Amino acid sequence: MRTLLGVLMVAIVSGDNEVTINGTLEGSVLLPCNCSGRNLEEEFRWQIDEPKMNEVFSHNMSTSRFNGSYKDRAKIFVAENSSDCSLLLTKITADDQGKYKCSYDYGGQYQRFFINLNIFANYTVCQNSSENGAINTYHCHVEGRYQEAEIQWYLEGNVLTNSSKTEITHTDPVGAPNGLYSFDSQLKTEHNWTSKPECDVTAKVISPFISNNCERQTDPPSKIIAQPKYIMRYSFKIIPIVLVLGLSLFLCHRWKISR
Ligand SMILES: *[C@@H]1O[C@H](CO)[C@@H](O)[C@H](O)[C@H]1NC(C)=O
Ligand SMILES: *[C@@H]1O[C@H](CO)[C@@H](O)[C@H](O)[C@H]1NC(C)=O
Ligand SMILES: *[C@@H]1O[C@H](CO)[C@@H](O)[C@H](O)[C@H]1NC(C)=O
Repeated sequence: MRTLLGVLMVAIVSGDNEVTINGTLEGSVLLPCNCSGRNLEEEFRWQIDEPKMNEVFSHNMSTSRFNGSYKDRAKIFVAENSSDCSLLLTKITADDQGKYKCSYDYGGQYQRFFINLNIFANYTVCQNSSENGAINTYHCHVEGRYQEAEIQWYLEGNVLTNSSKTEITHTDPVGAPNGLYSFDSQLKTEHNWTSKPECDVTAKVISPFISNNCERQTDPPSKIIAQPKYIMRYSFKIIPIVLVLGLSLFLCHRWKISR
């Protein structure tokens, strides 16, 4: 499990003792901290330095505790291996984005390791267009798990806004029981642009990760599952019919020959 997470995480070394790691909303991420040789009698802790200071975990000889919201969704391995101070975060939220610090005592010196955790949220984008006389209409449908997002239209890299010939309308995000939010936007224009406008997603705090897909995620693959059942059901009826027909034809033929 841990090795798998280790492989999945993307670590980019940026300066001394500072690492950038990417996490996905609602996923898990391992923030590594090798505290080999640390002074076990002194405290070791994880905290967030930015955007605002918050303690995550603290550990000393007598106590070991997670702060508030981390209790049920974070794991530490120091009990099994005193030189592994890594922190596993699960059920990642947008608020988890920030600069983390792992600190401990090493031979009387204060050691610190910084990790910048970037949170990404996946969005699927489906775009289509239609033409009605002099008006070109473009639709954009977006689905994703993070509600604090907006659709933005671009033409050749420039943001499009309302103008005398262009009207952009958005619908509010709609949540579904499966946890996905749907966003829609429509762009109507009298312009006859040579290149197509493109829609994109901008989100507050976190970074969107866009994939283009016009098959609705919410539709279960019912057709694919239904197919074998359909064939099975009818083959049970067809096989005896074919057998009986075949046998009677054969008997009929035999009977004709024998006459
Ligand atoms: C942790 O650091 C020590 C000393 O620098 C090193 O010997 C050890 O291999 C490291 N452990 C891991 C898991 O990287
Ligand atoms: C351990 O940490 C707790 C909470 O931070 C603190 O109250 C306690 O005094 C510490 N104990 C030692 C031995 O440092
Ligand atoms: C553009 O104008 C329409 C109506 O004139 C309005 O409903 C819409 O909110 C405006 N869009 C933006 C992005 O401001």
